Amino acid sequence: MPGQAGREYGPGVTDDDGSTDDGYFGENIAADYDDDTADMSRPDAVDPAVDLLAGLAGDGAALEFGVGTGRIALPLAGRGVPVHGIDLSRAMVKRLRAKPGGAAVGVTIGDFATTRVTGEFALAYLVFNTINNLTTQDAQVDCFRNAAAHLRPGGCFVVEVGVPELRRLPPGQGAVPFHISDTHWAFDTYDPATQAMSSHYVTIVDGRAQHSSIPFRYVWPAELDLMARLAGLRLRDRWESWTREPFTGESRKHVSVWEKPAG
Ligand SMILES: C[S@@+](CC[C@H](N)C(=O)[O-])C[C@H]1O[C@@H](n2cnc3c(N)ncnc32)[C@H](O)[C@@H]1O
Repeated sequence: MPGQAGREYGPGVTDDDGSTDDGYFGENIAADYDDDTADMSRPDAVDPAVDLLAGLAGDGAALEFGVGTGRIALPLAGRGVPVHGIDLSRAMVKRLRAKPGGAAVGVTIGDFATTRVTGEFALAYLVFNTINNLTTQDAQVDCFRNAAAHLRPGGCFVVEVGVPELRRLPPGQGAVPFHISDTHWAFDTYDPATQAMSSHYVTIVDGRAQHSSIPFRYVWPAELDLMARLAGLRLRDRWESWTREPFTGESRKHVSVWEKPAG
């Protein structure tokens, strides 16, 4: 429900409800997350994002939806921007906390589609395709409303997400492989009727196949613009990347900025 309170981690705040719902980012994923995303954590990947976000935050505070282990939040806080995060996963947040500077980033455990935190923000942001973790259109709409509710007039909501790769699907085919080796196969499945997609992983361990899958909802740029409009935001910029290349029909992802009108 909109307005649902979260539980906060930060100086002087504790969590004691004992809940263990880490969504799809429990201990098994969190333990390897930083190693698995090492390419995305290098300065050449992170710095352009942090430059852009710090510029939008200006002298205000930033709120990250799905803060995770702090890949973006920590360097952004290192630029002097006060950063607060919302995340479902205690296991991910525990990794953030253990890093240098981690104690300075306040975190609220909760669903970023609905969880409210105190304060007014110049910037809310949601990177690395994480809006796709919300698997219904309603939840994605709620997420925009929640971002807008946290922004001060003139504040911005930034989303980094892939353009749905339906052009890779020949007629009649609903799956696209993205990793094939002797012991590990990974593929995405798409349902264009519902915009449901899933990533599937099959790994041979001790001669036996293990399968896991994560559900997503893919979403089009124009659909996000409508969600923003429903939330009272308007599109300010859309680029192909954090380095502000123009977004075109060939772009495979976008970084979009919606603004809450001043006054
Ligand atoms: C792909 S990771 C991204 C983490 C970080 N933003 C980064 O760029 O490395 C997605 C994060 O979003 C969190 N997450 C996914 N769905 C969520 C939801 N509905 N509410 C809160 N957190 C969520 C996960 O727990 C995870 O930490």
